[in-house]
Amino acid sequence: MSLQQYQARCQARVDAALETLFVAPQPELVRLYQAMRYSVINGGKRVRPLLAYAACEALGGAAEQANGAACAVELIHAYSLVHDDLPAMDDDDLRRGQPTTHIAFDEACAILAGDALQALAFEVLCDARLSPLDADTRLSMLASLAHAAGPAGMAGGQAIDLGSVGRQLDQAALETMHRHKTGALIEASVRLGALASGHSDAASLQALQDYARAIGLAFQVQDDILDVESDTATLGKTQGKDQAHDKPTYPALLGLDAAKAYAGELRDQALAALAPFDQRADALRELARYIVARSH
Ligand code: IPE
Ligand code: IPE
Ligand code: MG
Ligand code: MG
Ligand code: MG
Repeated sequence: MSLQQYQARCQARVDAALETLFVAPQPELVRLYQAMRYSVINGGKRVRPLLAYAACEALGGAAEQANGAACAVELIHAYSLVHDDLPAMDDDDLRRGQPTTHIAFDEACAILAGDALQALAFEVLCDARLSPLDADTRLSMLASLAHAAGPAGMAGGQAIDLGSVGRQLDQAALETMHRHKTGALIEASVRLGALASGHSDAASLQALQDYARAIGLAFQVQDDILDVESDTATLGKTQGKDQAHDKPTYPALLGLDAAKAYAGELRDQALAALAPFDQRADALRELARYIVARSH
């Protein structure tokens, strides 16, 4: 199966599961639920759910077992984008080719939609229908996701990002920022998928962690590169915002060519980490290549 076919299959699977989550239980909540749905069901690439499914399958699990993990990581991601786009943060008005949530609704509604999506991610992981796993495994998944989303992960990374505007970071500091704001959730996506397989052991979890650490950083390096050299229509978000906001990025620090070479190095590190796995890890291998080759 090509990566495109695999992507289409996983996207349909996670979108069907996500779609069930946005039914307002009472009329007063219709607008909030609409804003949540608007922020999720809008054509994202679904890279994090794909990683969860692929990690589950790499360890011999059935993809459906990772439905809860796939929904949970995408809900956290969607929440992070809604808040990332707010005027107080990156102040963006275009996301996935459409007006950002605070433009389509309003700022308060976008803040609440983000809050609600975050909480919903953890609720979904507790749901035995979406995560048909024993309680200990679900607890490990909850702990990993909480760690990745919180101050030691994505939220911390966003704080470093905002505190770094207009400053020159050295490569170590830039790496720390990227590993937190983007890498942590990508690492959690792989880990949750692996745990959902029911077949994870310490050695395979460590190898997958090494893989995820490399692609997690590569993902944000490529995001920085695309902000420089892609265009708004292809990206579905406004190109050139990093430079306009004076954000520290890999292309700004190393230059475009060196940033691209570094992304390639990280991809190779990720592929090397998968050496102990058989062909069931091929989707993970393809995803590592895709993450640094993608055009949006
Ligand atoms: C964008 O993530 C934000 C970053 C963490 C770099 P994606 O590139 O995965 O965005 P969508 O989900 O496809 O819109
Ligand atoms: C976003 O980084 C990281 C998140 C946690 C959302 P960016 O600010 O570079 O993401 P884009 O470019 O707006 O998608
Ligand atoms: Mg940002
Ligand atoms: Mg942004
Ligand atoms: Mg960016």
